[in-house]
Amino acid sequence: MIEQIQKIKNELSSYEFKASDAAEKFRIHFLGSKGAIKGLYSLLRDVPNDQKKECGQQINALKEEAEQLLEQAKKQTSNTETKGAKEDLTKPTETKLGSHHPLSIIRREIIDVFRKIGFSVSEGPEIEDDWHNFSALNFPPEHPARDMQDTFFIEKGENEIALRTHTSSVQVRVMENSTPPIRTISPGRVYRNEAISARAHCFFHQIEGLYIDEGVSFADLKQTLLFFAQEVFGEKTKIRLRPSYFPFTEPSAEVDVSCTICKSKGCNVCKYTGWLEILGCGMVDPNVLEASGIDSKKYSGFAFGMGVERIAQLKYKVNDLRMYSENDIRFLDQFKSTL
Ligand code: PHE
Repeated sequence: MIEQIQKIKNELSSYEFKASDAAEKFRIHFLGSKGAIKGLYSLLRDVPNDQKKECGQQINALKEEAEQLLEQAKKQTSNTETKGAKEDLTKPTETKLGSHHPLSIIRREIIDVFRKIGFSVSEGPEIEDDWHNFSALNFPPEHPARDMQDTFFIEKGENEIALRTHTSSVQVRVMENSTPPIRTISPGRVYRNEAISARAHCFFHQIEGLYIDEGVSFADLKQTLLFFAQEVFGEKTKIRLRPSYFPFTEPSAEVDVSCTICKSKGCNVCKYTGWLEILGCGMVDPNVLEASGIDSKKYSGFAFGMGVERIAQLKYKVNDLRMYSENDIRFLDQFKSTL
């Protein structure tokens, strides 16, 4: 008996807790209902009476030792477990909601306005060929009007490829691929080779509008733009059209809205004129219709193009264009929208 007790004692003192479930294995092996120590108690029955007391005390001591070791082992494993876990994945997080970019808010608002009057949304590529960005829009080769927009060329020469300088290129794509009536707006990013400053950037965003059908007149253009201006800037907003020039529209006009900041009383934003320029427009030149395969004798239409940054500038009174692309969280955080 004494020998057996000694054997388990040795086993106990040389036991190594290795795996994370070692404590439980140890408990089952030594202290479980069929464990080694329990087994000793049952052997006690056969021990001669004069040795019973001695053996019983030794087994009790052994059991106590095993229990202490078990406690220690349990503490150790729970310590290493908490040390090992870097983060409590069940902890509720501090969620910080992002906000829409001001240009996205404006773009969606403008799209919604034109949707109300039946315009669809179309898009085109930012890398364009000469045909869609210039030639089909009535810019003859070497025409000085090409200099109106400083172009970033990707490939020069016969098959000229460039970053589109305006969303008017999408007009051409839409006209080539559909038949009138056409009523579409095309939002997108455009590029111009300009030095970056508060008032100019090498990329910005435009929204193009195109309406082609039988009998579309300049009055339709004017009314559409008035509706747009009043939806976006308020129902008291007035518009005025000044004659202008674009190769792809004839006649062409530049459109101003009554100053939203000073209510036309005169301020430094409208340079004391009471008016703010917001877009270019005109009746689609018959040459442009024909270049895209539309019968200019049957159909007429209007087009317009506006800068999204310009509209955002007026709505949010943010004058430095660079703010829109720097992605400074302190700037972006100020725009909250449900759109
Ligand atoms: N594409 C012109 C620009 O970028 C704007 C415009 C569009 C003018 C459509 C007339 C008609 O300046």
